[in-house]
Amino acid sequence: MILLLFGAPGAGKGTLAEMLTKHYKLPHVSTGDLLRYHLSKGTEIGKKAKEYMDTGLLVPDDVVLEILEEKMDEKDCHRGYVLDGFPRTVEQAEALDEMIEERSAKISHVFNIDVPRDVIVKRLCARRVCSKCGAIYNVEFKPPKKEGTCDVCGAPLMHRSDDKDDVIRKRLAEYESKTRPVLDYYQKKNLVRTVKGTDSAEMFGKIVDIVGK
Ligand code: AP5
Ligand code: MG
Repeated sequence: MILLLFGAPGAGKGTLAEMLTKHYKLPHVSTGDLLRYHLSKGTEIGKKAKEYMDTGLLVPDDVVLEILEEKMDEKDCHRGYVLDGFPRTVEQAEALDEMIEERSAKISHVFNIDVPRDVIVKRLCARRVCSKCGAIYNVEFKPPKKEGTCDVCGAPLMHRSDDKDDVIRKRLAEYESKTRPVLDYYQKKNLVRTVKGTDSAEMFGKIVDIVGK
């Protein structure tokens, strides 16, 4: 089963992916997390991606496709996965279709996570993520039990370097110009279900109702 989470920066894709991967026992495939891993290890891919990510621009398609294809072939992805933050251009969507077809799989659903823009900006400024396990927090809406410390693994929380006002604006502009057209691409294939709201538990419930228990 391949579930695709589509939505603007800060819509809550990662938060919902955490809930869905636990529920369906599927791996979470986030191109943003994969790129940040490469950045932290200083790999060639990380070096290529850095200046784009730091300024809120999309990383070139060929770089992202390379890491995605590698991930897709890992053993834990053979039963399916929850895809978060990919595809973000129509070219990526076309390449994904090819990769999936080559592996005799298919996309089960595309969920359009629809959250008002003013909510998004507030959320991103207050986000914190675990430096070790990647768990997502928010100092306003979902604080950890102990300040600055991950509830799950006890590692320190960090502020993502692209969660700064000017970079957030650039990420939202990239979303509007390059990523929103991907929705039309999937709408034509009749795969899109829009999930509107600001309550993750409620949105998770709506997704499970559509996908099945
Ligand atoms: P990526 O890491 O994918 O970031 P993004 O798409 O900008 O999305 P975010 O991770 O910021 O938001 P989210 O929707 O996951 O929200 P979250 O659950 O964390 O990409 C980063 C960069 O990598 C890109 O800018 C680009 O450079 C590059 N990149 C990645 N993929 C690429 C691709 N395919 N092609 C090219 N470049 C690519 O929630 C946000 C906050 O809100 C958290 O604090 C959370 O606790 C809080 N929150 C969530 N839900 C709720 C709720 N219901 N109520 C209150 N607070 C909530
Ligand atoms: Mg995310």
